[in-house]
Amino acid sequence: MGSESDATAQVKKVSVKDELAGEMKGWKNFVDGVIDRYQGERRWLINMLFDIQSEFRYLPHFALEHLAKRLEVSLSEIYGIATFYKAFTLKPRGKHVVTVCLGTACHVRKSLAVLEEFQRALGIEPGETTNDGEFTLETVNCLGCCAKGPIVVVDGEYHGNMTPSRVRSVLKEVIRGGRDGTEKYRGAGDTPALAS
Ligand code: FES
Repeated sequence: MGSESDATAQVKKVSVKDELAGEMKGWKNFVDGVIDRYQGERRWLINMLFDIQSEFRYLPHFALEHLAKRLEVSLSEIYGIATFYKAFTLKPRGKHVVTVCLGTACHVRKSLAVLEEFQRALGIEPGETTNDGEFTLETVNCLGCCAKGPIVVVDGEYHGNMTPSRVRSVLKEVIRGGRDGTEKYRGAGDTPALAS
């Protein structure tokens, strides 16, 4: 079992490198499969981007470059679309995405304190991914269920009436098994890699 400082050291604010992702086996086949699914028609470009993002959890440069070549469209056009729509992200995201609402209703119920506790626990700032690629921390301005604020969404699951004291138990639940009961965190053993 590692010490608390060992655990802390595992969680740093370094993004997963695009080049590393590029070494992922079979990525080209995957992108080709997506293009073929839409018969290589550029009018389906946005759908292709969604499919690629759902596979990689972001839009990697190497995939966009390949897409541009195959569809014979400029890379800048693809980047234009990828940056125009908020649903797309060009930064690597972790396996688990934690979204903290900072909208007015949640803010008055102290969502900032909740966010700060997530920052402390994960050792990252909003918009960053932990070094091990496990967690991405994000903020949003309203999730449409203000009455239950402060709201935090973890991997699509809503947690209402969040408090700073519940932050670590929510994260430990994700680390220990997640909703499908499988071990999601590799290499941490029984010790959640949460910063102190
Ligand atoms: S302000 Fe947070 S859900 Fe609306």
